[in-house]
Amino acid sequence: MSYPTPAQRRAISDGYYARNPQRFLGDPSPFLGWARRWLDTLPRPTLVLDLGSGPGRDARALSGPGVRVRAIDHAPLAIARGRALPDPPAELEFVEADLLPALAATETASIDAVYAHVVYMVFSDAELDRVAREVARVLRPGGFHLFAVRSTGDPLAAEGREVAPDVRVRPPDTEPLRYFRAETLDRLRAPGLARVVAEETPDRRVWYVSDRRT
Ligand SMILES: C[S@@+](CC[C@H](N)C(=O)[O-])C[C@H]1O[C@@H](n2cnc3c(N)ncnc32)[C@H](O)[C@@H]1O
Repeated sequence: MSYPTPAQRRAISDGYYARNPQRFLGDPSPFLGWARRWLDTLPRPTLVLDLGSGPGRDARALSGPGVRVRAIDHAPLAIARGRALPDPPAELEFVEADLLPALAATETASIDAVYAHVVYMVFSDAELDRVAREVARVLRPGGFHLFAVRSTGDPLAAEGREVAPDVRVRPPDTEPLRYFRAETLDRLRAPGLARVVAEETPDRRVWYVSDRRT
């Protein structure tokens, strides 16, 4: 099965934002509330990467005195919308980039938390392995990898055409989307990361995961 190229993926994401001008603006996601139980324990000053941040609803809510957030997204429209919002927190930085090279360019053991809300479903097996390795490398000991991904319990996981195990293309979407089960979550736990908790939301649509750098 072939995945779109990085340029095609960026165009797919940007097209989504062009069709949905209000998407991912406004209140932070419920996942941020869940993740705060670990984020709030980190020593200050704290540096957080928000991978696939969109216009930064979570990054904006999280950033503030003592908490710097680097919000990374490959969709130019998402980044432009985030930057255009009034009263930007001084501790919030937007970066328009593909998150894989952005992670690779990040200094080893320089990050306190890597945060990703419903982003990793678009990645191939090899890319998930790369994300896992890079996250383990960039986190400081004691740092957290906090991520949410769609679950096979989501009714959408039965729709469209299955192109690989738990990976589906659902027209009119052109991008394969992976739905995760407990075993697939392990793929994101590279050596050096210990699972703290992985739990499905009560509607079983999404996994919430916290891993800690040992
Ligand atoms: C479902 S949206 C979630 C946005 C945000 N995390 C939130 O919850 O508000 C997924 C985001 O991931 C971004 N994305 C997908 N693949 C990416 C990649 N390879 N590099 C950077 N961003 C990516 C998309 O542009 C999109 O903004």
